[in-house]
Amino acid sequence: MIEIKDVHKAFGDLQVLKGVTLDVSNGEVISVIGASGSGKSTLLYCINGLEPIQSGQILVDGTDVHANDTNVNKLRQRLGMVFQQWNSFPHLTTLENVALAPRIVLKKPKDEAREIASKQLDHVGLGDKLEVYPNKLSGGQQQRLAIARALAMEPNYMLFDEVTSALDPELVGEVLDALRMLSDEGMTMILVTHEIGFARDVSDRVAYVHEGVIEEIGPPSQVILDPQSERTRKFLSAVR
Ligand SMILES: Nc1ncnc2c1ncn2[C@@H]1O[C@H](COP(=O)(O)OP(=O)(O)O)[C@@H](O)[C@H]1O
Ligand SMILES: [Mg+2]
Repeated sequence: MIEIKDVHKAFGDLQVLKGVTLDVSNGEVISVIGASGSGKSTLLYCINGLEPIQSGQILVDGTDVHANDTNVNKLRQRLGMVFQQWNSFPHLTTLENVALAPRIVLKKPKDEAREIASKQLDHVGLGDKLEVYPNKLSGGQQQRLAIARALAMEPNYMLFDEVTSALDPELVGEVLDALRMLSDEGMTMILVTHEIGFARDVSDRVAYVHEGVIEEIGPPSQVILDPQSERTRKFLSAVR
């Protein structure tokens, strides 16, 4: 599980996370919603050790992400992350893009790495695009490639940061379908999203972040359909 305990994070004088506490159980899907600039991306970066924190603690399966003796690269193998915009290697085919990390990081033999890559590309519906170069893929296909690439490391957790927000509207559905499939398979996921309807359908819990604190958290039936906080209510009526 992921345990986030009273995390404070600042960039210089700017306090971005002001005491975030959240436990994510295995198999749980948590959606994080909130206004732009509220600290959602920063929270994900802190969870996988891309950003240091000022105080508090984040444990992933009991390992303190920010402890000096933690091997962050090793830890990140357990945490797949997909961003809004993901840059694949343009000179590599989709298969080679996905096989790269298993080969280099997991030191898998070439054939095995390609087998893993092929399996994961098939998994996200790109089984017929193995030999295609990324510039021939649509935005939705590129995001699914990014998801396959993260899955190829066989992570225990997946972190998604607004993976559909740069997409043309007609391509959003295919990426959300891939996320839904992962959720159905029991993947533990934290997803930052503006897709409120999707968050309602797929999440076990929804966290509304306001200015660096979790203002409200609970099942979607509460946070989205019957928010208790006036701030949550205001945010939801603004984005709908
Ligand atoms: N690397 C950085 N250096 C300085 N300020 C940053 C950095 N990353 C984010 N910020 C600031 O932290 C705040 C929260 O950003 P972010 O976590 O990206 O918000 P969100 O993802 O909710 O839109 C914003 O004010 C942003 O400008
Ligand atoms: Mg963000």
